Amino acid sequence: MVGFAAPAHAADPVLRDLATAKGTYYGTAVTGSKLTGTYGSVTGAQFDSITPGNEMKWGSVEPTRGSFNWAGADGIVNFAEAHGQKVRGHTLVWHSQMPNWLANGTFSDAELRTITTGHVTTEVARYKGRIDHWDVVNEPLNEDGTMRASKFYTQLGESYIADAFRAARAADPAAKLYINDYNTDGTGAKSNGMYSLVQRLKAQGVPIDGVGFQGHLILGQVPSTLQANLQRFADLGVDVAITELDIRMTLPATDAELAQQKAEFKAVTSACLAVTRCKGVTVWGFTDSDSWIPDVFPGQGAATPYDANFQPKPAYYGIAEALGWTGGGGGDPGPVTGCAVSYAVQSQWNTGFTAGVTVRNTGSSAIDGWTLKWTWPSGQSVTSAWNATVSQSGTQVTAVNAAHNGAIAAGGSATFGFNGAWSGGNTAPSTFTLNGAACTTA
Ligand code: XIL
Repeated sequence: MVGFAAPAHAADPVLRDLATAKGTYYGTAVTGSKLTGTYGSVTGAQFDSITPGNEMKWGSVEPTRGSFNWAGADGIVNFAEAHGQKVRGHTLVWHSQMPNWLANGTFSDAELRTITTGHVTTEVARYKGRIDHWDVVNEPLNEDGTMRASKFYTQLGESYIADAFRAARAADPAAKLYINDYNTDGTGAKSNGMYSLVQRLKAQGVPIDGVGFQGHLILGQVPSTLQANLQRFADLGVDVAITELDIRMTLPATDAELAQQKAEFKAVTSACLAVTRCKGVTVWGFTDSDSWIPDVFPGQGAATPYDANFQPKPAYYGIAEALGWTGGGGGDPGPVTGCAVSYAVQSQWNTGFTAGVTVRNTGSSAIDGWTLKWTWPSGQSVTSAWNATVSQSGTQVTAVNAAHNGAIAAGGSATFGFNGAWSGGNTAPSTFTLNGAACTTA
């Protein structure tokens, strides 16, 4: 985009331009008070959608009943307009970050309903025509897919959701109205609950346009069903979006973990692009210095695409690659043109075993960074590993190189080992992929 500050390195891609070329947007949550200096210039240069991290929440805009503070929210909307960005309004009705007068107040059911629809009307009307997407209702579900017992649900029942959407539609007919939650990214009980809820809302004629999938993910645990899950919601006749993507890990992050994180940001972005009704991806903070993760998950972090000094991390290049960038960067591992894996159980006892794995590059070019995946045939699990970072989700195992064995020359090999647990059977895995390419077993 002409007129905005240059990206960190002259040769680096501009995410918003890549996104535009793909017919999508790439967004970030922001902290309004930081939108100056490097933070502001990267936000403006790289992203074409912004979401206020906190400034539009009920507790921020109406700290005292009837007395409003719009300064933070106004500042973000003004910034977006000055930089040609969309805004995701976040969020109108949510059990968290409510003002104290509301959270601790006692209201009749009728009064609470009026207060809630009144809040939606006031805030949506204030920004009428300036907000592209509203997260009208946030986090309505429990982990098992049942309705969360928020103050709204407890007093008003499920109809609080319909009322909120109707009030929002009336206040700004042009804004796309979303319901948004976390741990609904893959298929499972919670996303099934969301699916049923959206079906019920549609059946009642509630004006819902989209479903937001927050995407607060853990390294090594990106759901393999993400794309299929987005697609099944799209097939219900709603738009979908990834609204709060971050991928956290235990600190300090290793190079291998950052390489894996690159692959995972790429995979999530690609999953959205593969679903026609997936409108775009938003990261929940673009720099590790502005991420909620370390505050909320002690010892975890490094969850965003830029480091704390605004330098792009491998994850940034992973996003860019998903958006069609072919310029490399961020530790591009190079193509795997051939690989062979030997897997050997070296010792086994009643419940445990030790295995060694050799990964051989039988292709003609060097690999710089590798991720080996396999599926357990008989329900084994990895308990600890050396010379690789190994994680497991269900029966899927992901092993990422350690810093010292990531580079494998043509004809060369890398080895790692692990301890595992087994019961019933300990059959060796029969297929392996290296950076997505199928390997022979030796
Ligand atoms: C987080 C903010 O990033 C933090 O600054 C704040 O202290 C707590 O809320 N799901 C949401 C977001 O929908 O609003 C949350 O944002 C993160 C989880």
